[in-house]
Amino acid sequence: ISLKPFNTFGIDVQADYFVSVNSVEELKSVLSLNDYPNKLILGGGSNMLLTKDVNALVIHVNLKGIEIVNENEHEVYIKAYAGENWHEFVLWCINNHYGGVENLSLIPGNVGTAPIQNIGAYGVELKDVFHSCETIAIEDGSFANFSNAECDFGYRNSIFKQDAKGKYIITCVTFKLSKKDHKLHINYGTIASQLDTMNVSNPTIQDISKAVIAIRESKLPNPKEIGNSGSFFKNPVISKALFEKLLANFEDIPSYPVSDTEVKVPAGWLIEKAGFKGKRFGDYGVHKNQALVLVNYGNAKGEDILKLSKLIQDTVNRLFNINIEAEVNII
Ligand code: EPU
Repeated sequence: ISLKPFNTFGIDVQADYFVSVNSVEELKSVLSLNDYPNKLILGGGSNMLLTKDVNALVIHVNLKGIEIVNENEHEVYIKAYAGENWHEFVLWCINNHYGGVENLSLIPGNVGTAPIQNIGAYGVELKDVFHSCETIAIEDGSFANFSNAECDFGYRNSIFKQDAKGKYIITCVTFKLSKKDHKLHINYGTIASQLDTMNVSNPTIQDISKAVIAIRESKLPNPKEIGNSGSFFKNPVISKALFEKLLANFEDIPSYPVSDTEVKVPAGWLIEKAGFKGKRFGDYGVHKNQALVLVNYGNAKGEDILKLSKLIQDTVNRLFNINIEAEVNII
């Protein structure tokens, strides 16, 4: 079976075996199939680059459902199953006037994979609304819960990318959202000016969602039209000493504070400075509006995109002495 429809990069590789599971019981029984020692877990396919055919049983986690598990006057606890599309879940929350995820509108992918890399945008990260998740262990089918603290969330990071990597499948996530007096995050980037453009002076969560959608649509390619995996690289954290040195040569280098000794630099700026923004090599290239995003214009091979990513890493390293790390999983 071709995995092209199952990865947002739109890479056409073959999988030996494929199964889509619709319930936790089905998932448990599929995991116990000893005939297939190699298993690849697939969610929304929005954070992976497939570089070759997959000699494994691909398990497509298609668990659906959204339910309120608890609420009081101020807060609501919502359980969403792993196979729910992230943006549809956000819209469901906004339509029900539950605040907290509006800044995370239009992020590709599914609910179940969002915690793995602690998705984040426009001043909000998943960890800010995450209460807990339920998981099933790949090795023995046992169940375990992870609290927010146990997930050990960091910038585009969690225990599921570290000690627990490849060991668990997240089956559902419980979110804690607000029912009134929403704390709005409008100070990040161009949200405030976008709200002005929309003539909104007293924004609701719905307005913020609309502003975020407009900003994202202006910068980020729609994976349904041009294959991509969002930011290909993480924004690197560098020492202030190195930053000062760079500032001497590049006076417009942007930065965000991290600690007394470190700053974060936008990888998109480094890649643009290195001359890659909008560069096209046949069927693949670097997006014209956001240099952090690598794109597949049609029939690119995963290996080609991987090669381009290495060229970008080497060039950025040579010019700035900074290592930029891939954010997507290379498979
Ligand atoms: N910049 C450039 N050239 C570019 C892109 C960016 O110079 O081509 C510089 C500009 O100075 C700009 C700054 O980088 O002001 C920041 O750009 P942007 O607001 O687009 O954010 P980012 O740091 O490039 C991060 C996330 C995005 C998220 C945005 C908004 C990472 C790796 N990426 O990008 O997340 O949408 O902030 O919050 O942290 C994703 O993870 O897939 C993703 C799209």
